[in-house]
Amino acid sequence: MVKEKTVFFCSECGFEASKWMGQCPGCKKWNTFVEEKTVARKTGTVSSGIQYKERPRPTAINKVEITEEVRIKTGICELDRVLGGGIVKGSLILVGGDPGIGKSTLLLQMCRNLSDNGTAVLYVSGEESLTQIKMRGERLGAKSDKLLLQSDNDLDNIAASLENTGAEVLIIDSIQTMAAAEVDNAPGTVTQVREVTSRLLQMSKRMNTAIFIIGHVTKEGMVAGPRTLEHMVDSVLYFEGDGNAGFRLLRAVKNRFGSTNEIGVFNMTDKGLEEVNNPSKMFLNGRPLNAPGSVVVCSIEGTRAIMLEIQALVCNSNFNMARRTAVGVDYNRVNLLMAVLEKRAGMDLAGSDCYVNIAGGLKLSDPSADLGIALAIASSLRNRALDEGCCIIGELGLAGEVRGIRNIMQRISEAEKMGFSSCIIPASNYDKDKMMNLNIKIYPVSTVNEALSLIR
Ligand SMILES: Nc1ncnc2c1ncn2[C@@H]1O[C@H](COP(=O)(O)OP(=O)(O)O)[C@@H](O)[C@H]1O
Ligand SMILES: [Mg+2]
Repeated sequence: MVKEKTVFFCSECGFEASKWMGQCPGCKKWNTFVEEKTVARKTGTVSSGIQYKERPRPTAINKVEITEEVRIKTGICELDRVLGGGIVKGSLILVGGDPGIGKSTLLLQMCRNLSDNGTAVLYVSGEESLTQIKMRGERLGAKSDKLLLQSDNDLDNIAASLENTGAEVLIIDSIQTMAAAEVDNAPGTVTQVREVTSRLLQMSKRMNTAIFIIGHVTKEGMVAGPRTLEHMVDSVLYFEGDGNAGFRLLRAVKNRFGSTNEIGVFNMTDKGLEEVNNPSKMFLNGRPLNAPGSVVVCSIEGTRAIMLEIQALVCNSNFNMARRTAVGVDYNRVNLLMAVLEKRAGMDLAGSDCYVNIAGGLKLSDPSADLGIALAIASSLRNRALDEGCCIIGELGLAGEVRGIRNIMQRISEAEKMGFSSCIIPASNYDKDKMMNLNIKIYPVSTVNEALSLIR
């Protein structure tokens, strides 16, 4: 008889306990424990979930033969770039993102390209009927008979289909709807999600199939269910963006077969996701010229330089407590920069409301935008516009010093390419030999006051 026991799991990190707890000792979150029944596992499985035919033996490192990993190009350059040059056969890839962000669209689009190039693909959806997938497929122009669809949520059926069709790429839309028959729990529970993922891991290694798993994310931005899922898969990609703005960012947060620095930029249209080859152009599109409080900065996202517009609005406060709002940049960072402006540049900001926004809905974490944010606030306070052909680059320290940043030449050449005429950069990054012959004028500054005097 199979022994059944009740355990409690943290729905955030997958921490397991025999009794309910208010706070998870693993991730310190409150009220995340859920009760689930588990069935005692059969013996003979290794912890990784892979079942071996014969016991493996250790090999000396110099005797290990390297087999060149085979990569399949997806035909979507931005996706290939994030994956590190294409899909690696036999890998397990998790794609996370908010509902409605376009995960199904992106992967169906990828399936269209793959099947058009003769790769057999199996797309399994537990959320949508065949008609619904077909309707989306029509919008995307998918019509190859190499693209097989299945509307199912039983893992055994999926394993059988994979075996019968010999598909090289399998899409699971979404992990929260799939169930393994031997586990009693409902789909989407921690036990079920873990079991399904570990079975998929076995399938991918045994059949040498690349498997994409779609996962929804919680309010906190984690893949719903356990974070442990992230440890089991080879790559984790997050799809993010502003639901209202059309652009989407694909980011790799883990990649066993490539760099995690890469991002892919897409634009959502009625024909599906369009690749954006020139993100700077998209983010600067519609920028108000000659407007106080508008500043252009150059941020490095992954290995690419992207130019963005920062907008600030400073106005007199009607309340005792001034309001500060930051969208797309860290709120505390904005407060810190305002304190630097007050103390080091003698600006009176205490009684003013301040709103800072990154146009286009991108989230910015690159500190090189500090100086740009400070100058945007100063420009709005003085109600004087900056030269619209000027790009501001530099990190700001608490003493009001402008600190050096990385990849300066890449940022300057992006500004040059986008037709900017001048650039304010940190003095410590200034290199006379390299920067003398550029078509763009360079103003090195070492303090925030120097920068402020340059912009009138
Ligand atoms: N007919 C349409 N025209 C334009 N955009 C559409 C259309 N249908 C759906 N979309 C876009 O696709 C998004 C849904 O994408 P989907 O791939 O289903 O998201 P997910 O799988 O991440 O939940 C919608 O939010 C919408 O922006
Ligand atoms: Mg979907």
